[in-house]
Amino acid sequence: KVLILDFGSQYTQLIARRVREANVYCEIFPCNADFEKIRNFGAKGIILSGGPASVYDEDAPTVSREIYDLGAPVLGICYGHQLTGEYFGGKVAAADHREYGRAELFIGKKDPFFEGIDTESFTVWMSHGDRLEKMPEGFDVIAYTKNAPVAAMKHHTRPIYTIQFHPEVAHTDNGAAILKNFVVGICGCQQIWTPANFVEAEIERIRELVGDKRVLCGLSGGVDSSVAAVLIHRAIGDRLTCVFVDNGLLRKDEGKQVEEAFRNHFHMNLIAVNAEDRFLEALKGVSDPEKKRKAIGNLFVRIFEEESKKLGDFDFLAQGTLYPDVIESVSFRGPSVTIKTHHNVGGLPEDMKFKLLEPLRELFKDEVRAVGAALGIPDNFIWRHPFPGPGLGVRVLGEVTKERCDVLREADAIYMEELHKAGLYRRIWQAFTVLLPVNTVGVMGDNRTYENAVAIRAVESTDGMTADWAHIPYEVLGRISNRIINEVRGINRVAYDISSKPPATIEWE
Ligand code: XMP
Repeated sequence: KVLILDFGSQYTQLIARRVREANVYCEIFPCNADFEKIRNFGAKGIILSGGPASVYDEDAPTVSREIYDLGAPVLGICYGHQLTGEYFGGKVAAADHREYGRAELFIGKKDPFFEGIDTESFTVWMSHGDRLEKMPEGFDVIAYTKNAPVAAMKHHTRPIYTIQFHPEVAHTDNGAAILKNFVVGICGCQQIWTPANFVEAEIERIRELVGDKRVLCGLSGGVDSSVAAVLIHRAIGDRLTCVFVDNGLLRKDEGKQVEEAFRNHFHMNLIAVNAEDRFLEALKGVSDPEKKRKAIGNLFVRIFEEESKKLGDFDFLAQGTLYPDVIESVSFRGPSVTIKTHHNVGGLPEDMKFKLLEPLRELFKDEVRAVGAALGIPDNFIWRHPFPGPGLGVRVLGEVTKERCDVLREADAIYMEELHKAGLYRRIWQAFTVLLPVNTVGVMGDNRTYENAVAIRAVESTDGMTADWAHIPYEVLGRISNRIINEVRGINRVAYDISSKPPATIEWE
């Protein structure tokens, strides 16, 4: 396995994903993690990430020099390149030409690092204002660009490589090959990180951890909780009980699909609670988005508690927590402000005495999908777009009523059906319909109408943190609009949301 030390780069998670795509397991630690913890991890290779600081800043992040003496090969990327340069006696300074974007990298020296790349030069992605001005002792340049004479270097005798460019981003040609050369060829890691191996090992781990105890799992119908539940069920069978709370704010037929899949297909213990009336009651007269979220979150917790009490004692609570939620990152930005509070099962009160069982906490979203496929979970679950905990509660803008939810459900179902038909659903990160709190004038036949307007949203993203609106072809948009207006009673207008995040957010509330 490989250890990635994070110096605060926005690309650190991408490095981890590329390494894992080479079927090698890796983890990310903050650069200031205890040296003991770093040593005990027992990495076969160490990667130092990039970062926003300059190595000559007074409070520049550093890492113990002893990492170079652990015997594992080290790869420094961008900030990691400059830091290594300084440690070994080189000099870093602000560059005359800051380099952002594409650059042509020339291979200066044949090396296992560039194994399998048979061109003399290729495009790499640069993003730096500093550069190595004076070479450190004992290193050779192995690649250069026009503005960075030391774009890649290697120690004469020790397995230390450093590069100024970012091999982890998609814009760098051969980037995945370079990272694979490092972790497999140079570090000698075995390529055994596969979904099937993960499933096998995790089932063993769950059996050992849980023993003969019982596990409770909140199912939402989304990818993460579904995969977690099926995996745990594989390990401990009927000692897992799943609770699915239908809050009446789900998409069309979603409740039925969840019951069908988990009860009839996977034969799991499933308690389905229909709580639509209670949620609608709690939302009566509430139109502020944060108040809606609180009302929905609190009621969810209360119902979940009620159900778990009825079921007797449980020792473990299962959650679909993913790796991006547990990575400790080095923050240079200070405390962040709350834009929206996101409620998940995470808001459970502390006096519920459960231990947490989080079988996906080492995985990225794409790995969860691969594991789900290996477990035989149907495609329509695995490829579902993310869906917020408060569901249609934050997509029916303003006050939420059953009638308005029903109208939105019909429109959204048509939208999804057309995206599937056009082969676009999987390429889009998240798409949905929003019911606006205004009526607009229309004409149907010879009559004036004064009815609802919906907005349709589709975004491309990798993690939901930033997003761009998806460019759905006009013909497809036309079909969607036409069908919604003709088939859904109460809607006479469709608008397309063309805002990116930031400055907009993905959801409207
Ligand atoms: P925003 O709207 O903040 O959304 O750009 C980013 C991602 O988070 C989802 N989202 C939520 N998920 N509870 C959730 O579990 C919430 O309250 C919530 N609000 C937004 C949103 O769907 C998108 O995927």
